[in-house]
Amino acid sequence: MKLSGNTILITGGSTGIGLAFAERFMKAGNTVIVTGRREQVLQDAQDKLPGLITKVSDLSNEAERIALFDWVTATYPDINVLVNNAGIQQRFSVIKADAKNDWAYFNKEISTNIEAPLHLAILFAPFFAEKENAAIINVTSGLAFTPFAIAPIYSATKAALHSFTISLRHQLSETSVEVIEVAPPAVNTDLGGTGLHVHGEPLDAFADGIFQGLREGKSEIGYGTSVDRLRMSRDDIDKYSESMYQATKNMID
Ligand SMILES: NC(=O)c1ccc[n+]([C@@H]2O[C@H](COP(=O)([O-])OP(=O)(O)OC[C@H]3O[C@@H](n4cnc5c(N)ncnc54)[C@H](OP(=O)(O)O)[C@@H]3O)[C@@H](O)[C@H]2O)c1
Repeated sequence: MKLSGNTILITGGSTGIGLAFAERFMKAGNTVIVTGRREQVLQDAQDKLPGLITKVSDLSNEAERIALFDWVTATYPDINVLVNNAGIQQRFSVIKADAKNDWAYFNKEISTNIEAPLHLAILFAPFFAEKENAAIINVTSGLAFTPFAIAPIYSATKAALHSFTISLRHQLSETSVEVIEVAPPAVNTDLGGTGLHVHGEPLDAFADGIFQGLREGKSEIGYGTSVDRLRMSRDDIDKYSESMYQATKNMID
């Protein structure tokens, strides 16, 4: 994709990976709009990056996704890039979970991580297909390839988004819309709660690495351990997943 002169919507761009991408896209000469549920956090992002456009929106809600599409295409008709980045991670034991009473809690991960990016991609695809240059960037995870057993719904949502991204790329191959997958390894953000990802890659180095991949025109971009995981054999996936589970299973005791 071209890296300047775009109008870009980054979902969940108020913190973490989305905010690091927003900063880099702004520096490269793009107009950037970010969304999130918390107004104060969006305000803090705008204070950090003057010129950043923000919009409060809960993307787990269908009506709010449609309202966001309607608002952004009416207010910024030049919009030509969607970054499906918003996501949450929940770690739990399927034995201890109270699915009868708590399904709304578990379903939130499905509606945020998979319903939202699929719905937004389907809303934006016909609009983008009319443009000379456009892109849809889906942020999946290394865990799309090597399931993290203590985050079982999360891993499943990311695998589903990976699959959808391939289908979307095929369907849009005869249009100007590029479809790019970013599959981060663990990155030091507040994903899942403060302190759960401090072992991850430093955020700035990770974001710089992904931007290098964008500059090189890659359509699937990993970083650190996710580079190998993107292409791992089934036997190696099983070993990797097993060793992650053994190392972390006490976290959901
Ligand atoms: N950090 C990692 O290790 C890692 C690894 C692989 C993939 N990823 C993926 O990278 C993406 C960004 O995560 P991150 O690490 O940067 O975590 P983060 O700092 O927690 O950022 C998540 C962002 O999503 C927003 N968000 C969450 N639920 C939302 C909803 N229902 N509607 C709208 N916005 C929502 C959050 O803002 P509000 O809370 O204010 O809504 C925030 O802006 C996610 O898709 C995550 O799965 C992260």
